[in-house]
Amino acid sequence: MHRLTILTLFPEMFDAIKHSIIKRGIDNKLFELNVVDIRQFSKDQHKKCDDYPYGGGAGMVMMVQPIVDAFRSLSTKDAKVLYTSPRGKVFNQTMAQQLSKYEDIVILCGHYEGVDQRAIDILGAEEVSIGDYVLTGGELPAMVMIDAIVRNIEGVINSQSLKDESFSNGLLEYPQYTRPEVFEGLEVPKVLLSGHHQNIDKWRQEQAIEITKKYRPDLLEE
Ligand code: ADE
Repeated sequence: MHRLTILTLFPEMFDAIKHSIIKRGIDNKLFELNVVDIRQFSKDQHKKCDDYPYGGGAGMVMMVQPIVDAFRSLSTKDAKVLYTSPRGKVFNQTMAQQLSKYEDIVILCGHYEGVDQRAIDILGAEEVSIGDYVLTGGELPAMVMIDAIVRNIEGVINSQSLKDESFSNGLLEYPQYTRPEVFEGLEVPKVLLSGHHQNIDKWRQEQAIEITKKYRPDLLEE
């Protein structure tokens, strides 16, 4: 079974993703989410986990000791370790697919101005960003990555859905419709009602190209 372990100062935040498809995947024992509270490992009497940066500057830095002890408490041996950070390599669908092959993934969530560099070095963590903007912490990025990773684990989602969706063929996905056939005068494209699968595939391919041209022309150049 795949295991994803999150090291965080805000474990409650991860309740947000234990629903819907992710919940079903956990219930069906396709993967496990293990949320570890770094604060439990603080040796400070007030459970302090952050301190002022050496050299000065704004904000606080997460201390190395609680992070390293939290990591060492895990039974993982050769886990893939990630650290969420705006400095990291930008996460994408290809990375989600590759990471879904690992049995064991550990994600360290940064907070405040970041973590002591020695924690990143000791954990051997690879830095990953979810986009060129700065968030207040690494918890939302970790949840975004977990969602994108686990849906690629076999059995979590119907494999045809994975094949048809955006990015899987280098294009964005074609438009979808469901009942009713007419809503406020807007009709479902006739071809989708024709039952002619070749024509439907052709229409979907054309639409996918049009949408990709409009929103992500960079994908067509690649
Ligand atoms: N932490 C703060 N901003 C982030 C981002 N864009 N990606 C990953 N981690 C972050």
